[in-house]
Amino acid sequence: MGALSTYKHTQPYNETQATMNTNNTFYCGLMLIMLMAINPLAALAQAPQKASNNLTEQPIGTIVELGEKLFFDTNLSNNRSQACATCHAPSHGFADPRDNGVGGSASLGDDGKSLGDRNTPAIGYARFAPGFAQDPEGNFHGGQFLDGRARDLKEQAGGPILNGIEMGLPSKAALLERLNENPRYVDAFKTLFSDDTLKTEDNAFMAVTTALEYFEKSDFFAAFDSKYDRYLKGEYLLTKQEDLGMTIFFSQQFSNCHACHQLNARPSAPNETFSDYSYHNIGVPENTRLRQANGLNKGYQDKGLFHNPSINDESLAGKFKTPSLRNVAVTGPYMHNGVFQDLRTVVSFYNKYNSKSAARQINPETQQEWASPEVPENISLQELREGPALDDRRIDALVAFMNLLTDKQFEHLTPLSSP
Ligand code: HEC
Ligand code: HEC
Repeated sequence: MGALSTYKHTQPYNETQATMNTNNTFYCGLMLIMLMAINPLAALAQAPQKASNNLTEQPIGTIVELGEKLFFDTNLSNNRSQACATCHAPSHGFADPRDNGVGGSASLGDDGKSLGDRNTPAIGYARFAPGFAQDPEGNFHGGQFLDGRARDLKEQAGGPILNGIEMGLPSKAALLERLNENPRYVDAFKTLFSDDTLKTEDNAFMAVTTALEYFEKSDFFAAFDSKYDRYLKGEYLLTKQEDLGMTIFFSQQFSNCHACHQLNARPSAPNETFSDYSYHNIGVPENTRLRQANGLNKGYQDKGLFHNPSINDESLAGKFKTPSLRNVAVTGPYMHNGVFQDLRTVVSFYNKYNSKSAARQINPETQQEWASPEVPENISLQELREGPALDDRRIDALVAFMNLLTDKQFEHLTPLSSP
């Protein structure tokens, strides 16, 4: 029962989805316009030729730029309807802005039908996750995917292109064929890699994943220019509420957030990503609406880390990689299965572990008691119970603090954005 069996599960793959193609041509055109408007990297990479108005004719000058082209290229999906950027949209915090009929909890694949079971993560700042490894105490950290099954970004990048419920190309050979269709790619792979790169499917695959990795490691994905970063540089004044939220977040006494969502030993360190990339089961309930829509049986358990093929210890079931909180305010819904729509609900959820009040045992989104955990074993109760109960003022302050972690380019998307 490898990772792919969790992930590749829905309807068989369908070759003909003409309607989807039309939609996506539109979507893609839109994406290109947005890309040109907001993508500083594109501007940078193309600076020397800026005077020309035919961007598509320019040679691809760097591996990062090649990675960028690939990231946005729908030709790398079987029906040519979907690119990495479809699910990790640079206009929306690198998450999937589409509703997909499930409130955005999961993504539709290139066949226009297959619906995943995991909430597409926002991939800004993904380069800061260390390679998947076990520490001397035996705990796992890092890696890419929510279960760390790709050691790093390069390994990860090969996954979606050939994944039947994502971009769905049938083979590396099919990828090679698509690359060879584009003379600019043919030139670029030759110049930036070697003459032989587009001659064998393995070389081509390797070069594609390398280029995607380079692009994902560029600062385009990690601007560090949120209000929080500007505050650290003395360029932004916190409101009282934001200040309170920050104090609570980093405090050992007023919350437990720092136990998992702090990378650096020192609070308020620059380049904080707000995750230590540890794995925990925090007791997230099943997303029954998503399961209804994607056809997985209600009651199926996404066992997280246990689905990583290198893991066979059942005591790790239900643990997921702690996500970065950068851009979290604009990349809902939340948790591995998108079960919570609202950021405030997430904080209320944590509070259920520490508040004795009956009202705090109610999920504000369903008005029912918090549903039981998807995997009831192995919950990190010790860390979760470390924090004291939070009153409404503190909950709101934590939400206001997380709003501060939004990159400048996404600030207009924040619910609490102030001018
Ligand atoms: C159909 C939607 C979809 C497409 C297309 C897609 N992804 Fe993803 N991506 C996901 C989902 C869902 C996950 C989480 C899957 C899991 O953990 O099993 C993910 C995970 C990732 C991660 C790991 C992030 C983390 O925090 O662990 C990276 C990096 C990533 N994708 C990059 C890419 C790249 C590069 C491409 C294009 C080659 C791509 N994705 C195409 C949906 C998509
Ligand atoms: C025991 C470790 C731990 C503690 C303590 C903790 N978190 Fe988390 N957090 C996680 C993990 C793991 C996830 C992902 C769980 C999942 O998807 O099943 C998560 C998810 C989240 C998310 C959703 C992010 C997304 O993109 O879906 C937010 C927001 C969040 N935590 C904020 C907080 C805040 C605020 C606190 C303090 C009140 C806190 N966390 C305390 C480990 C922790």
